[in-house]
Amino acid sequence: MIIGVPKEIKNNENRVAVTPAGVTEFRRYGHTVYVQASAGQGSGFSDHEYIEAGAQLLDTIGEIYDIAEMIVKVKEPIASEYPLIKENQLLFTYFHFASSEELTHAMIERKAVCLAYETVERADRSLPLLVPMSEVAGRMAIQEGAKYLEKPMGGRGILLGGVAGVKPADVLVLGGGIVGTEAAKMAAGLGAHVTIMDISLPRLRYLEDIMPANVDTVMSNEYNIRRHIQHSDIIIGGVLIPGAKAPSLITRDMLKLMRPGTVMVDVAIDQGGCFETSHATTHQDPTYVVDDVVHYCVANMPGAVPYTSTLALTNSTLPYALQLANLGWQLACARSEELLKGLNIVNGKIVYQGVSDAFGLPYVPVQEVLDSSSSINK
Ligand SMILES: NC(=O)c1ccc[n+]([C@@H]2O[C@H](COP(=O)([O-])OP(=O)(O)OC[C@H]3O[C@@H](n4cnc5c(N)ncnc54)[C@H](O)[C@@H]3O)[C@@H](O)[C@H]2O)c1
Repeated sequence: MIIGVPKEIKNNENRVAVTPAGVTEFRRYGHTVYVQASAGQGSGFSDHEYIEAGAQLLDTIGEIYDIAEMIVKVKEPIASEYPLIKENQLLFTYFHFASSEELTHAMIERKAVCLAYETVERADRSLPLLVPMSEVAGRMAIQEGAKYLEKPMGGRGILLGGVAGVKPADVLVLGGGIVGTEAAKMAAGLGAHVTIMDISLPRLRYLEDIMPANVDTVMSNEYNIRRHIQHSDIIIGGVLIPGAKAPSLITRDMLKLMRPGTVMVDVAIDQGGCFETSHATTHQDPTYVVDDVVHYCVANMPGAVPYTSTLALTNSTLPYALQLANLGWQLACARSEELLKGLNIVNGKIVYQGVSDAFGLPYVPVQEVLDSSSSINK
């Protein structure tokens, strides 16, 4: 198969969808890989490394879209890319269709095959291509929280781990999923006293088993949250109710219970945030203060560490991209339930219920599209 890797052009996006190691793997199976010049620069990969791995470089994004049967990307295409996309071209990337009607209509019109990272789903309902970014954001949340806890940054002026004779900081983690677990591990490793709250008792039992002694687990409810925020130095928001807006676990009136300089990191901001006073910020201007409480609400936290994020993402996406290249999307999706769940729009038809529901557009069962497409290709 001919694979194309364009340079990401979305504002401040430095990740790349295929690394030189990925190119080597594609080449091993006999595929041809075209990479746009400087596509890997933001993540620390030079054009020379791609050429050494067996890729062919093309100067413009137009040439990449023109030649490739499968485009592998990181972020959804933006408006200037829409006209470049061809009928039947396979696009494997994050789309988040339900948040953009414009993108949905554009992809329907282009009649491409859109396989979305975020809806590739395992039998246990986990989302393997979302997990790596939650791991990055969870770990980063503590790094950022610790930084803004410093006095010159607006925080209370507390060292996370304390020192001999001085108590460490208190970290409260709301949500004990991927983000929460990674945040708790990092904070505990730095010597802080950590409390994880979740509404799932089985999850709390699991965390109680695997976490070190300086991590406590507590049932998440309003009473417990009100009590704990009064002595927390950093509060991490990492809750998720799949497909819904995050619940406001800390309301505006609760801020006055906190000590001035407390830092709140709302990782769940991409789902609307789990603090009432949260609004999305950027890496250029990541924080703001409400009632003396520092809010950090960057919606694309992994974007600040593109080298780590690119490797974490591509470690997860490459095995799926190889299946698609080796078998073609029809056979790969027919054989893999995980990949089948990733299909969102196929040749102008919406085949993912959530996307059709979001905009009241017609839905076609994925199996129908797969069957008709396979018979055409026989
Ligand atoms: N800002 C960013 O850059 C960034 C990056 C990655 C992920 N995220 C977001 O972080 C959030 C968490 O992601 P995740 O992968 O950890 O999800 P996850 O599904 O692994 O974990 C979510 C946890 O929240 C718990 N929960 C639900 N309601 C709760 C409540 N009322 N109180 C306490 N816990 C509750 C669930 O039981 C679950 O354990 C998501 O919104 C995700 O989109 C943001």
